[in-house]
Amino acid sequence: MRGMANRTGEETASVRIVEGDNLGFLRGEPDGRYRLIYVDPPFNTGSRRELRRLKTERVEEGGDRTGFGGKRYRSTELSRESYGDRFDDYLGFLGPRLVEAARVLDDDGSLFVHLDPRESHYVKVFLDELFGRASFQNEIVWAYDYGGRTKRRWPAKHDVILWYAKDPGNFVFDYDAIDRIPYMAPGLVGPEKAKRGKTPTDVWWQTIVPPASRERTGYPTQKPLAVLERIVRVHSAPGDVVLDFFAGSGTTGEAAARNGRSSVLVDSNPDAVRIMESRLAFANPTIVSVG
Ligand SMILES: C[S@@+](CC[C@H](N)C(=O)[O-])C[C@H]1O[C@@H](n2cnc3c(N)ncnc32)[C@H](O)[C@@H]1O
Repeated sequence: MRGMANRTGEETASVRIVEGDNLGFLRGEPDGRYRLIYVDPPFNTGSRRELRRLKTERVEEGGDRTGFGGKRYRSTELSRESYGDRFDDYLGFLGPRLVEAARVLDDDGSLFVHLDPRESHYVKVFLDELFGRASFQNEIVWAYDYGGRTKRRWPAKHDVILWYAKDPGNFVFDYDAIDRIPYMAPGLVGPEKAKRGKTPTDVWWQTIVPPASRERTGYPTQKPLAVLERIVRVHSAPGDVVLDFFAGSGTTGEAAARNGRSSVLVDSNPDAVRIMESRLAFANPTIVSVG
C-alpha cells in the first residue's frame, strides 16, 4: 500500500524480551512506536465463579435470615455450578490492552489479533468500535487440520486472525513479499503460472507445529513460524520494530529476526521468557523485567 521505508534507521535487527505484565509495559511506551503489532492472547483468564440458585420461603420458626418486619425466612439451595468468567471478563482483561495497542501503533501501522472462534466475534466488535469499522481489513482463517476428529459435529480446526489498519487509507501491504502456494489444479493454468504458484487468500492452510519437529519449543501454545513470517514480511519493512505483548515462545521474535525486523516481546510467564531467551539466542536478545 505504501513505501517500504525503514522507520528506525537501524541497520541490524534487535530483539528485546520483556518479562512482566503487558499493561504496565504498554502504558510506558510512546505513541506510534510500532508499525506492526501481533498478539495471540490467552483465551481463558482462568478465574471461575459460582452460580447458586436458591429458593427462599417464609417460616414461623428457625430459618436462616430475618426479613422485613422481623419475619423469618429459610433458603434452600436448588443448584450450584461454577462457570468460567471468560465471556464476562475477557474483554475486561483484553480491552485495556487493545486500547494501548492502538495508541502505540504508528499512523500507518497494523494490528493482528489471533483468536479462538469462540471469542473472536466479541473482540471484533470491540475493535470495530476502537478503530472504526473502515479499519477492519481481513478476518484471516488459519486452518490446520491436525489431531483428533469428533464424530458429533464438524471438527473445529481453525483459528481466526483479525487484521485492523490504524488508517484504512495508509498501511503496509507488500504484495511482492507474499509467498506463493501451489494451484489446486495446476493443469488448468499453464506451466508458467503453475511453476510460480498463486498468492494465498484469507484462508491460510498451515499445519500446527508438529510435536517432533525442530521448530517445537515445548511451549504449549506455540504458533507456526510460517504464519508469523507471512505477517511480518507483508505488513512491515526491514528495520521496523514489531511488537508482540503476549509473546509466549517468541514465534513473532523469530519471524522478525529472520526477516531483518527488530522485535519487542513481552510475557509475564518466566517459563516463556526462558524459552524465548534460548530460542532467540542467535539474535543476541536483551532481557529486562518490568513491574
Ligand atoms: C497463547 S500464548 C502466546 C503464544 C505465542 N504466540 C507463541 O507462538 O508461542 C499467550 C501468552 O500470553 C502470556 N500472558 C498472559 N497474560 C499476560 C499478561 N498480562 N502480560 C504479559 N503476558 C501475558 C502468557 O504467559 C502466554 O505465554
